[in-house]
Amino acid sequence: MGPAVKHGFFRNLLVRLLLFGVLIVALRFMYVVIVHGGKCDARDFCLFSSQEGITLPDAGSSSGSNFFILGGDSPASPVWSSREWRRTVSYYSTIFQNLLMEGFLSATSKSLLMDAASGQEVLALKEIGVSDAVGVSKMKSLPLVIAWDLFSLPFGNNTFDFVFCGRQTVERSLHPAKLALEISRTLKTEGVLVVHTSSAGDVYSLNSFLSLFPGHRLLRSRETDGLDFSAAREIILQKGGGSLTLGPGREESEKADSSGKCFTPEYKLKLLHSAEPLIKEEPLKPWITLKRNVQNIKYLSSMVDINFKSRYVYVDVGARSYGSSIGSWFKKQYPKQNKTFDVYAIEADRTFHAEYESKKGITLLPYAAWVRNETLSFEINGDPGQKDEIKGRGMGRILPAAGSATGLTKTRVVDEIQAFDFAEWLKNTVSMTDFVVMKMDIEGTEFDLLPRLFETGAICLIDELFLECHYNRWQKCCPGQRSPKYQNTYGQCLELFSLLRKSGVLVHQWW
Ligand SMILES: *[C@@H]1O[C@H](CO)[C@@H](O)[C@H](O)[C@H]1NC(C)=O
Ligand SMILES: *[C@@H]1O[C@H](CO)[C@@H](O)[C@H](O)[C@H]1NC(C)=O
Ligand SMILES: *[C@@H]1O[C@H](CO)[C@@H](O)[C@H](O)[C@H]1NC(C)=O
Repeated sequence: MGPAVKHGFFRNLLVRLLLFGVLIVALRFMYVVIVHGGKCDARDFCLFSSQEGITLPDAGSSSGSNFFILGGDSPASPVWSSREWRRTVSYYSTIFQNLLMEGFLSATSKSLLMDAASGQEVLALKEIGVSDAVGVSKMKSLPLVIAWDLFSLPFGNNTFDFVFCGRQTVERSLHPAKLALEISRTLKTEGVLVVHTSSAGDVYSLNSFLSLFPGHRLLRSRETDGLDFSAAREIILQKGGGSLTLGPGREESEKADSSGKCFTPEYKLKLLHSAEPLIKEEPLKPWITLKRNVQNIKYLSSMVDINFKSRYVYVDVGARSYGSSIGSWFKKQYPKQNKTFDVYAIEADRTFHAEYESKKGITLLPYAAWVRNETLSFEINGDPGQKDEIKGRGMGRILPAAGSATGLTKTRVVDEIQAFDFAEWLKNTVSMTDFVVMKMDIEGTEFDLLPRLFETGAICLIDELFLECHYNRWQKCCPGQRSPKYQNTYGQCLELFSLLRKSGVLVHQWW
């Protein structure tokens, strides 16, 4: 008796336990070999693990269904689980735990998880004790997640205390404004919205983002670690609860939108410091200087992130032929950050209309951009000596008034054309939340049209303007002679450009 016996007893027990362990491993191994065709992914289930599930991507059905084999005791028993899946859950658990500690979320918060593709966000919330949580995704239905159109959620107004939108859902959405509206609708007043995004790092895109959520207050925007250690940003908004904390910018510009005049927020003015300088001296060889200047242009979309806009719009005023600027320049060279732009071509000259019929995604307005709706005389061929008719076309000018065409020589062709109130059209067609790029080449009419855009406040709708200003420039043909075609001087053009920049419009000198 004594220590020796005791020792033997324990050794016996130990041996039995070991044998039992070996048996279990052997059984699991056999199981794996039989069920899984001999492949053993050591990371997932060859070692002892009671919680981890098994992913069988190609077992059984061709749909790649997954089975939860070891029946772990996680609260919702997800149908699939893997280390990666679990890691995502832990990632979100940490995120939500922090929000919980900071008071943006509570255990009793009724919560919605947008675009929660495979339910990890929902599980993470439930695991930290927020039980009243539901996920929606446009993909097929999974446990914890209902499949539904994100733009028309199956929940009433003012339902949730907490909405979470991870995985770059907002910037990747085709209709971010529509999505924002729907989120806002289902959020309770004082409810909290948390958005994860890889965007909104600069002031411009953060403001674009905030414009999607009018009537919400920015509580915080900060960098955070994204899934897989990607850089991300966490933005926290609260519905209702007063004005933005970002300064007067957005609210005032929206107010101004309806009253005519508009206010340019500070961040837009600051951006103009980074633009290429205007050419102060009148160029002696404008046909070279202005053409070269195109290389210096700092495109807005190469300076800032243009995500979170409702729509991306390009308006070509004085479009001429498709190839002259839409096809050759805008489509090919303008940096679009992968956005699809709606293109409007405004061209009064009939010669060019036919080719636009076959162009998809382009809306042709076969009228002249003008300060009011009326019929005008339109000088089609500005250069009577021009042999090639097409080449000379499109340089047409709107004549001062319909009746004053009497003094014209017979060689000039004058057409009756329909002109429209461009400022009014612009206000009806685009909104402050759209990203609007415009090229304007209208043979001197800019001196009528731009003042009208200022007057009506429509100027604030334009994010970036490529303007060819027409003046009595030095001529290539005849040294020392100015073009007789236009009355305005280079100085007046420069004034116009400066005024535009001062007003926050990123205008470039086009040629
Ligand atoms: C829900 O809110 C939307 C706008 O947010 C409103 O148009 C709609 O009438 C509201 N529905 C109900 C039932 O109050
Ligand atoms: C545009 O899309 C391509 C591929 O779809 C991608 O490689 C590229 O990074 C994207 N560019 C931007 C600016 O998002
Ligand atoms: C100008 O014409 C457009 C298009 O026909 C119309 O919608 C608009 O109301 C007109 N504006 C005025 C001021 O008559």
